[in-house]
Amino acid sequence: MKGIRYEVWFLFFAILIPSGCKNARSTPKTPPSKVYADGYDSGVVASVHHLASLAGIEVLKRGGNAVDASVATFFTLAVVFPRAGNIGGGGFAVVRMADGKSYALDFREKAPLAAHRDMYLDAKGNPHRENSMKGPLAAGVPGSVAGMAELHRRLGRLPWQDLLQKAIAIAENGHSISEDEAAVLMRFQDDFRVVNGGNIYLNRNWKKGDTIFHKDLAQTLKRIAQSYGQDFYSGITAQMLVSQMQKTKGLITAKDLAQYKAVWRKPLVFTWNELTVISMPPPSSGGVALAQLLKGTEKYDFASWGFGSAKSIHVMTELERRAFADRATYMGDPDFVKVPVEKLISPQYIASRTAGINLIARTPSLQIKEGRADTIESVETTHFSIADRYGNTVSITTTLNSFFGNKVLVKGAGFFLNNEMDDFSVKPGVANQFGLIGGEANSIAPGKRMLSSMTPTIVVGRDSSILALGSPGGSTIITTVFQVMMNFYVWKMPLQKAIDAPRFHHQWLPDEINCEKGFPAISAADSLRKMGHTLKELLRLGRIDAVFRDSNRKLTGASDIRRSGDQAVGW
Ligand code: DON
Repeated sequence: MKGIRYEVWFLFFAILIPSGCKNARSTPKTPPSKVYADGYDSGVVASVHHLASLAGIEVLKRGGNAVDASVATFFTLAVVFPRAGNIGGGGFAVVRMADGKSYALDFREKAPLAAHRDMYLDAKGNPHRENSMKGPLAAGVPGSVAGMAELHRRLGRLPWQDLLQKAIAIAENGHSISEDEAAVLMRFQDDFRVVNGGNIYLNRNWKKGDTIFHKDLAQTLKRIAQSYGQDFYSGITAQMLVSQMQKTKGLITAKDLAQYKAVWRKPLVFTWNELTVISMPPPSSGGVALAQLLKGTEKYDFASWGFGSAKSIHVMTELERRAFADRATYMGDPDFVKVPVEKLISPQYIASRTAGINLIARTPSLQIKEGRADTIESVETTHFSIADRYGNTVSITTTLNSFFGNKVLVKGAGFFLNNEMDDFSVKPGVANQFGLIGGEANSIAPGKRMLSSMTPTIVVGRDSSILALGSPGGSTIITTVFQVMMNFYVWKMPLQKAIDAPRFHHQWLPDEINCEKGFPAISAADSLRKMGHTLKELLRLGRIDAVFRDSNRKLTGASDIRRSGDQAVGW
């Protein structure tokens, strides 16, 4: 399938919307959904929104590298995809530069200095998770702006200010929303009213084609552009955030903001079959769990068992069960707790974990480790992947945690804050919104980063091919990335098919396999039940945006068809 050249659309927008244009009729119209772009030489961007992908492509065309394009895409997502794109949240970037060096940047939120271990427990020790989910107390100190500035400072090449111009123009001039975007805004009207007392997203009968203007956010982005991000941490934006916190009894102070730093981590690099996998180390659990899962597959003959077979699903489930049990016990912020990363992904340890897998019967989760969990609520994060003509590749996942984070829009500054505090273990054995439980390693402490499942990943083949991928989905991020890699590398599906193929998920607790509708086939489902598994149907799992550079340097972008809006754009 040959991708349509979307730069045509871009030129179309550029001509139609000169800077400063206020006419709603001339706002960008959504082009027909196009999730796949292949056969390009000069660059490719895959993200959840066509305007964000186009912003990245425009930067590549101006001679920017994949890092520059990432900055443009990132800030554009903060405007056009406010449910998850953000400046009030955090994330992780995994980068592989053309010289073969790889990098992992941690711009995860941190607990405010006034946070404490039992802050979501009442006098009787009962958890009150509404405070970790909504409103000012749910917010961690945001890392996104520091993250983008640090990424650019080290690896970018075009001037920083230029990279934010597209996002600023869209925020000022408005953009038209899709049916899905209108529906999501309508779904959260009550939250906008109750938590915020009203914001620009409130009180409208949103429908497809409506235009949204983000005037305050445009000013905030201008200040961020002029100050290389400093304004967010010690300027006018910082003052707005702190004043909002003071008025609403939130915890984030000027000191919290002034002290925030994005941190370069040693990327988690491991081999799987003949591939080199580069992923995110703690405070994400993603890279470690992905390594355990992939390396755990090596001793089995998945290639002949086949995609969707009961045997493949069973053994992958057993691997997932064990990886998530480890996650709950061992993982947290490496600046606060010692995470035994080397041990958890060592061949001996993985051999000891797989030794317990029975090929014809489930191992009940309670035999592996005790715990309990509750259900998955509506959540949102966003991932994008970019490859440039120079051979650089970027994989970034960023989040506010839930849709629109803690639902607090910072007054005057126009951006939502995260509710990432819910990713801490508020009490041992109490599940977070993803049903994940945690222990001491992920308890709350001032200045600590909460454990994440975000798994931005880059895979390098011996033929010098490179795949970058990632997904939203809380705990299901890890298993989504795992399965797409199995589909692509073991079952040799073309990239788009590897992404579209139905998925399943097991996370130790609850002890059930979540399966996308209609999957697996009835006979495989019957076999799995006979092995002792419980199958539960779920609407969808994950949302992949990936780019691939083949051994001939041809570029492909592929996005998930599960949701509307994703778009891969090539040049
Ligand atoms: O860091 C994490 O693991 C979560 N805060 C991610 C949230 C998420 O993926 C929600 N999206 N669908």
